[in-house]
Amino acid sequence: MAPTGEVDKAAIDRLRALVDAGIALTSELSLDSVLQRIVEAAATITGAKYAALGVIDRSGQRLERFVTTGLSSDEHARIGELPRGRGILGVLINDARPLRLEELGRDPRAVGFPPNHPPMSSFLGVPILLRGVAYGNLYLTEKPGGFTDEDEELVMLLAAQAAVAVENARLYESATRWSRQLESLNEIGMALIGELELDRLLELVASSLRELIRARMVLIVLPSGEDALRVEAAVGQGSDGLHGWTFSRSASKAGRVFSRGRSERVDELLEDPEVDHESARRFAARTGLYVPLIVRDRATGVIVAHDKQGPDNRFGDDDVRVSEQFAARAATAVDLSERVARDALRRVLSGQELERRRLARELHDETGQALTSILLGLKNVEDAKDASNVREAAASLRQLVVATLQDVRRLAVELRPKALDDFGLVPALERLVETFREHTSIEVQLESQLGDGRLPEEVETTLYRLIQEALTNVVKHAQAHTVSIILVRRDGNVSALIEDDGRGFDPEAIRDDALGLVGMRERVGLLGGRLTIEAPTGAGTTLAVEVPVR
Ligand SMILES: Nc1ncnc2c1ncn2[C@@H]1O[C@H](COP(=O)(O)OP(=O)(O)OP(=O)(O)O)[C@@H](O)[C@H]1O
Ligand SMILES: [Mg+2]
Repeated sequence: MAPTGEVDKAAIDRLRALVDAGIALTSELSLDSVLQRIVEAAATITGAKYAALGVIDRSGQRLERFVTTGLSSDEHARIGELPRGRGILGVLINDARPLRLEELGRDPRAVGFPPNHPPMSSFLGVPILLRGVAYGNLYLTEKPGGFTDEDEELVMLLAAQAAVAVENARLYESATRWSRQLESLNEIGMALIGELELDRLLELVASSLRELIRARMVLIVLPSGEDALRVEAAVGQGSDGLHGWTFSRSASKAGRVFSRGRSERVDELLEDPEVDHESARRFAARTGLYVPLIVRDRATGVIVAHDKQGPDNRFGDDDVRVSEQFAARAATAVDLSERVARDALRRVLSGQELERRRLARELHDETGQALTSILLGLKNVEDAKDASNVREAAASLRQLVVATLQDVRRLAVELRPKALDDFGLVPALERLVETFREHTSIEVQLESQLGDGRLPEEVETTLYRLIQEALTNVVKHAQAHTVSIILVRRDGNVSALIEDDGRGFDPEAIRDDALGLVGMRERVGLLGGRLTIEAPTGAGTTLAVEVPVR
């Protein structure tokens, strides 16, 4: 008749353990902990001395992870390498059905144990199936008296729960991975807007990517010259000293990927004939991931990652996808910086053009007119009737020539005052102010708080030109009595304030061919500075310039 309450109690205990295990499993989110709990629960429920869980790798042929319970870490260490899935373990990999043996060693498919392995005889193996695909197997050994039908059934129940828990943990891990990816991409997106230094942007892309795909090192290479690639960013272990390193485009894997414009994964660098083995050795790299930076169907560089960290060195499809996202950002950064460089050049050229137009105008208006007058004067000399007429005509000619000479000198100084090169901004301005005083009745004060050091050449030139134009405008338009110029250097900026007490003007009503203020803005903009103009009608004009100085 039915066994006593004791057996029932044992059965109930085991069911309870199973339910407990199920609850514990659902609350666990890290895959590692889930696997460890599954193994422990399997051992507890069946009373097996040892339990293990082998995770099947991408090839579906071998085990990539082996989580155990029952073995001390010492025993583990003595056995050495983890099983790869040969023998009986392999049977379950190839045929995902429960397998029960009374004596492991007696099965013809067994391959035996490595040295220092504890003896194991009774065996129960059960697959963990995720949507019909074997994720791994649970292996139990050494149950006193051998495993029963009931054990098999309970472990199958546990395996079903385990499958759900593994799936959850995987989803959770990929969700956290995705959110980290989004965060990084977002960070890079922000940097693309705010950061102007290409180097720093590429460094950021490389280091965020390295973290996300867990690569040992990540490089970003850009073309350099006819047939070379140059490392523009290098992060991770072994990347020291690689920044700036240049290598052949045609004789390297990165170069091939650059030409083909398609991502590639290399699981064994030494086996790929396109890989330059010398550099692979130099990086001590085994695996690689190559992703081109693409802008408008054209490759502008390549991201290279080496050696995924962890038990498996190979990169996966996910890694390729993430890297392509990062490559798209890096490509935008490279494209932007190329365009900014082109734009800056264009603006410099247009700034020079502006200057030329003005000088041409002055040459035409002033010098040209003066020379015409001289020609007319010469005619007077020719036509002179007597010596006194000749002297008179010659005297007025001389005056004209002197004035023109002065004009030409002034133009030369305007082109490039020698004092600016030789002595720096303040002495050149002092000279400018002196000339200004000589030629006008406007009082001018110059105050410099710049100190003695020289400023970068482009800053000196810009400020000089700007103040020169401002003073010219005062003479031409302001009807002012006094002008003051104050220069200050503070917090990495140099600022100049030019103020007159003239009649001011309406910025909206400036004639179309005026070049002075436009030129000022261009110059200041090129240096990344700011120009503000306040000119309320009747209350003078104030120009405030601020330019950054590194
Ligand atoms: N300090 C000032 N006081 C009064 N009006 C001014 C002053 N500076 C500029 N303006 C007004 O702004 C206009 C534009 O100045 P801007 O320097 O651009 O051109 P411009 O001096 O007329 O010609 P250009 O500088 O090309 O020889 C001037 O025509 C003038 O009406
Ligand atoms: Mg002007």
